[in-house]
Amino acid sequence: MNIIEVLSMEKPVLENEIGRILKISRAAVRKQINTLKQAGYTIKSSSDGYTLIKDVDLFNEYEIESKLKKQLSVCKTVKYYKELPSTQTAVKKLAEKDFREGFVVVAGKQTNGYGRIRREWSSNDGGLWFSMLLKPSIHPKETPKLALLLSIALNRTLEKNYGVSSKIKWPNDVLVLDKKIAGILVEMSAKQDITNWVVAGVGININNNLPKDLEGFAVSLKTILKKRVDISGLLAAFLMEFENLYIAFWKKGFKQFYDEYNDKMAYRNKPVTIDVGYGIISGINLGIDEEGKLVIKTSNGFEKIISGTLRELKK
Ligand code: BTN
Repeated sequence: MNIIEVLSMEKPVLENEIGRILKISRAAVRKQINTLKQAGYTIKSSSDGYTLIKDVDLFNEYEIESKLKKQLSVCKTVKYYKELPSTQTAVKKLAEKDFREGFVVVAGKQTNGYGRIRREWSSNDGGLWFSMLLKPSIHPKETPKLALLLSIALNRTLEKNYGVSSKIKWPNDVLVLDKKIAGILVEMSAKQDITNWVVAGVGININNNLPKDLEGFAVSLKTILKKRVDISGLLAAFLMEFENLYIAFWKKGFKQFYDEYNDKMAYRNKPVTIDVGYGIISGINLGIDEEGKLVIKTSNGFEKIISGTLRELKK
């Protein structure tokens, strides 16, 4: 238990009660209270004790730690920074330094966030921007499956914790009411048949204001729920959900997830185009197969696609 959890249990809490629960001296309690105040918490003190004033916009390492109800077995270290150029770049540097699997870097704001095909990713204060270092024992060809897993984890997190139903636009955009609420970026390093590392970046629009030019295409959770959302709570819920999926994936492979992915898929059985880099494939989107490949029924037969940009073909 940490001091935030103690202060959240009841209001107000006396100094010696906090000391007793945390097994520290009253002087140490005062020191921790001061550190929290410096970190941005509002803590009122009176003769009845300390009262923590809750603020959903507070997003820092204490908040994240206190929301991670169970000890995570993969994502064991979560490091928070107020601002970074990009959590993705930061974790890729750690990966090269041989950091262990499960290292997560979160930023309150990114000044140089990027998405797939190096597109600029708007990352103001109020959103959730993080990257995870993963080291799965899989063939490099299988890493796109991780992006599919991440989008299922996010879809489940939104549904279970906020009652928000979302769709997955293949491969890994998460949409609510047909607008993008989150994007996932999976980058990796491999040598021949061995995957050295995978860095999975997730960007979720939560309480952030979206730039005007994105308003027609993107949406935030705050707009959907008509209230601000506790960002660290969402991160903790996501990490717990993802870990369960990731562990099940190690044990039994991807096949167990493909039905769920297809159920949640946007524009399924609809005419779509896929930009595969070397050309455009058009046809009916039949969903993914057991291997996680997208199956498109074209005028010449069936195409199986591993990566690309899908667009709905509007009549
Ligand atoms: C996309 O939809 O194109 C993927 C967007 C991924 C954005 C996240 S935010 C956290 C991490 N850091 C980055 O610079 N990018 C990813």
